[in-house]
Amino acid sequence: MKTESHKFRTDELILWQKQYGRNNLPWQNSHDPYCRWLAEIMLQQTQVKTVIPYFEKFMQLFPTVKDLADAEEDEVMAAWSGLGYYSRARNLHACAKIVIAKFDGRFPLTLNELMELPGIGKSTAGAILSAVTNKPAPMLDGNVKRVFSRFFAVNEEYGTVSFEKLLWRLAEKNLPESDGRAFSQGLMDLGAMVCSQKDPLCTMCPVSEECLAFKNNQVLQYPVKKKGKEKPTRIIYWKVFIKDNCVWLEKRNGKGVWKGLWSFPESETKPSDAFVEKTIYHEFSHYKLQARLAMMEPEEKNETGEGGWFSVSDLKSIGLPTPVKKVIFEELFL
Ligand code: ADE
Repeated sequence: MKTESHKFRTDELILWQKQYGRNNLPWQNSHDPYCRWLAEIMLQQTQVKTVIPYFEKFMQLFPTVKDLADAEEDEVMAAWSGLGYYSRARNLHACAKIVIAKFDGRFPLTLNELMELPGIGKSTAGAILSAVTNKPAPMLDGNVKRVFSRFFAVNEEYGTVSFEKLLWRLAEKNLPESDGRAFSQGLMDLGAMVCSQKDPLCTMCPVSEECLAFKNNQVLQYPVKKKGKEKPTRIIYWKVFIKDNCVWLEKRNGKGVWKGLWSFPESETKPSDAFVEKTIYHEFSHYKLQARLAMMEPEEKNETGEGGWFSVSDLKSIGLPTPVKKVIFEELFL
């Protein structure tokens, strides 16, 4: 089968990365494992331009893994606030604590040990390892999946188990002998800068001569889309209590995506007598959320549970999900 026997143009990619790739991102100043780990966690599911200010803020607030491990959870969540996918922040904090307790503050530098740490999957482990040690290691984020699925003309549907398995096999079989750092970065740069989803710049591509999709004039047909189902919609009510220019928020516990962050009290059904002011729409990777703002009488708030009244200035020191922040600052005008 052509896909499996085809060889990636590793040398051409490495040369291209050194000449045309991104080599001045803030985390590329250093090959320090803490710095590269922090960047890779932030870059999971988030674009470079969004990550840069958060990365810089974290390096200022928590210059070493020990500073991060010693921080309070609320401090970490507040600094992460707005970056989304908050389980990353909880795992980041847990990981820093383990690196201090179990590895004496030094990140382990093997794929298997890295993958045992919270928040580090196979791709992130490969990206960290190649960035820190310059040894070639396989990695496969969304952009790299697109590059490979085109270069090798992968006919499996994107996101299926057989697609994932085949792509990992290709990633592992097509590593260079050396120059792991430029190779991994080159794959990511190519995916972000050249081999884009809608307008790929194939004439600028260092590997297009051997790209099977390009040779067949089928670049836009890859990756092959899964015949998708619509995301489900979840409708909830956010109970908004305001008193003396303060808003009542509760800390999310349990399992949800916003665990550790502060939000409005929530209910599945419309609170009786509440006036529904507006609906907020937010999209997660797995479902769509419709949050209906139920304006409540402040006297009805019996002040139990882990909650409190927050003024605008108090809000700076706690983690707030982006849609909650938007409601408070753009709808409630405290
Ligand atoms: N996406 C994930 N890791 C990245 C990195 N190191 N540089 C650019 N984009 C990335």
